[in-house]
Amino acid sequence: MKVKKVVVPIAGLGTRLLPATKAIPKEMLPLVNKPIIQYIVEEISKAGFEELIFITHSSKYSVENHFDTSFELESTLKNRVKRSLLNELKAISSLSINISSIRQGEAKGLGHAINCAKNIINNEPFAVVLPDMLLREKKLGFNLALMKKAFEKNSRTSILVAETSKKELSNYGVVEVKRNNLQKELFEVLKIVEKPSAKKIKSNLFAVGRYIFNDSIFSYISKVKPDKTGEIQLTDAIKLHLKEKDSVDAFKLDGTFHDCGDKIGYLKAIVEYALFDKSIGKDFKTFLKKYEK
Ligand code: G1P
Repeated sequence: MKVKKVVVPIAGLGTRLLPATKAIPKEMLPLVNKPIIQYIVEEISKAGFEELIFITHSSKYSVENHFDTSFELESTLKNRVKRSLLNELKAISSLSINISSIRQGEAKGLGHAINCAKNIINNEPFAVVLPDMLLREKKLGFNLALMKKAFEKNSRTSILVAETSKKELSNYGVVEVKRNNLQKELFEVLKIVEKPSAKKIKSNLFAVGRYIFNDSIFSYISKVKPDKTGEIQLTDAIKLHLKEKDSVDAFKLDGTFHDCGDKIGYLKAIVEYALFDKSIGKDFKTFLKKYEK
């Protein structure tokens, strides 16, 4: 079955980036000249999905506005003959993907956010993309497209995993895997634990924010009990999935990632995206040389 829909939860309040995110959604913070969320939507569109569903919050209307056509701005740029800017602006609203949104009335965790999309998903398989995590890939959308293609062949739930340091792992859903002999970058998930303490970690892999599910995930989410902080975790639903002997594949990220949800990750992303930017990369590199010693 084709995977057409993607759920992007953006209702989180971005507390790790306060006070910058007091009045601006963290997804709208810029990387060079685009907000973070635009890179995410471009990745989804490039991977071949047709429908994007934001799970959102009343304070996040600017994210939806960003993907609307801005007639006023477009006609001003047209009159001033600012062609390249105009084309860049038009490219946003003409991304080949349909965008809709649902409100998450209460902040009750990632599992709860995904569950808000249950009716709109309507028994179809779907992807989940977490907007904090930016991927740098050899071809934009490559990893998601690979997961999508595999699901369309074998209908198996999958998650994207990446390596990170022991210190960082405790911030994430840590994944233990068994090598799949057929394909080098494909594994079978044995165990997944949300933010375990460093002592308990036996893997160097974590869930890097890209998943493909069939609609059975909703029944697992409905069985998840809130954690210590009162949140319904998606990781716990995947755990139940595994417990039911429903296998989950893990694809290893081909590329690198930036966690833009915290200060250092966001700053590293700014530097890297600026260095790779065609118009300012060279000058920026020269500027950074000042700090080399
Ligand atoms: C969420 C997931 C976690 C995953 C992480 C990736 O955590 O719960 O399993 O590894 O995203 O960014 P959060 O960042 O919401 O704390």
